[in-house]
Amino acid sequence: MSQSNLSARGIFTSKFGIIAAATGSAIGLGNIWRFPYVLGESGGGAFLLVYLLFIIGIGLPVMLSEFIIGRATRMNPFGAFRKLAPGRPWFIVGIMGTIAAFMILAFYGAVGGWTLEYLYKSVTNQFAGKSADEMVQMFESFRGASYRPLLWQIAFMLLTFLIVIAGIEKGIEKYSKILMPILFITLIVIAVRSLTLPSLSDKASPMAGLKFLFRPDFSKLNANVLFDALGQSFFSLSIGMGALITYGSYIKKSDNMGSTALIVSLSDTFAAVLAGVAIFPAVFAFGLNPQAGEGLVFNVLPSIFNSMQGGYVISILFFICLTVAALTSAISLLEVVVATFSEELGMSRRKASVISTLLITLLGAVAALSWYVFKDFSVKNINDVTGEISAFNFFMILDYISLKYLLPLGGLLIVIYLGWFSPRDKVLKELSNEGKLKVNYFKVLMFLVRFVVPIAIIIVFLNEVGVF
Ligand code: PFF
Repeated sequence: MSQSNLSARGIFTSKFGIIAAATGSAIGLGNIWRFPYVLGESGGGAFLLVYLLFIIGIGLPVMLSEFIIGRATRMNPFGAFRKLAPGRPWFIVGIMGTIAAFMILAFYGAVGGWTLEYLYKSVTNQFAGKSADEMVQMFESFRGASYRPLLWQIAFMLLTFLIVIAGIEKGIEKYSKILMPILFITLIVIAVRSLTLPSLSDKASPMAGLKFLFRPDFSKLNANVLFDALGQSFFSLSIGMGALITYGSYIKKSDNMGSTALIVSLSDTFAAVLAGVAIFPAVFAFGLNPQAGEGLVFNVLPSIFNSMQGGYVISILFFICLTVAALTSAISLLEVVVATFSEELGMSRRKASVISTLLITLLGAVAALSWYVFKDFSVKNINDVTGEISAFNFFMILDYISLKYLLPLGGLLIVIYLGWFSPRDKVLKELSNEGKLKVNYFKVLMFLVRFVVPIAIIIVFLNEVGVF
């Protein structure tokens, strides 16, 4: 592709640019909102252990595969596979990825909206004087008895849209560079407070929370935990749907993709674990339920702010940073859909952005009101391990299908393509910047990509449907 073409698509101007953007995509609500509550529901430390194994053994190789495919083709996921394998059905990966991005952004926008509501609540000092139980009530009545989730979801989608039409460099790099470090700092401050909260008893203490997070209870390991951890690891790293193929297509030919992938995965995992350290000691110290589900973080954080010096200011700072972290992830989701619409359907970027934002916001409106207007729209599910019956509302259905099926299946196809259908020397050439970089991990990577990742994903799936 010619240089003029490249600059027309936009390209990351520095190594820090791609790291900032990919980290911006990876770190978001997935780390701070979703990771703690899924870990809480899945019983704690055992989940964490499996999660970490999946990040290293599956997530990292998939991420690198996406970068390689993206940079080699300089295309959106759909176009990338059509270019690499013309006349063969690999472009299905692109279609699945676009559908996944669509569904994820629909519910992501809703949670982005919750974050904006909590930013508003912090600014207007609405946490003051409320007990831990009242905080839980406050979240339930916001989500289950008002149209506010819809208003905020629309606001969040509008912000996402505005950033995307501003273009790649200006839009993405600028916002994530400054606010990500501040997010880490506020999280550390919150974690310190959470760890030093007074204990009510042995069981209701910060220590009990830390044990819950870090001490694996292997009796809790079952097929569902593996399935949950796999979906969460894909979601958190932004892999399996081609978002990082799209980002890879903007990486410079002189950047080291291997170290970029490593830095991005490490910081993403660090953010998730840090969120766990901030949340669980407080959950236990306040005597709350770690299995509270999607509301967990919104139930717990305000009480931590209430109990700390300068909590008012810190809560505002935290929710601003969380909003920005959510936005930098949301723009990468929207980018997948926009790049596909504009490059595959020949629409202008602006038109593609308008149409995709409108459609996603519409679907997201139903997600945002899943606990209110649409609360009777649900699918019953019987947990075959515990026998518990649970109801999945529309929000949960979007989350379930996209995270647990579309992303891992997308990742599976991506590594199978790279490992079994692309010429090995071409992969090495791309990864080593035409031989300029030493990639002594190449053999290990190819072994993971060809065997370990596909087999592991298939085993988790078969396990879930009860084959073993
Ligand atoms: N990784 C993001 C998060 O953890 O919040 C969510 C996400 C963004 C998933 C982009 C997938 C994606 F393509």
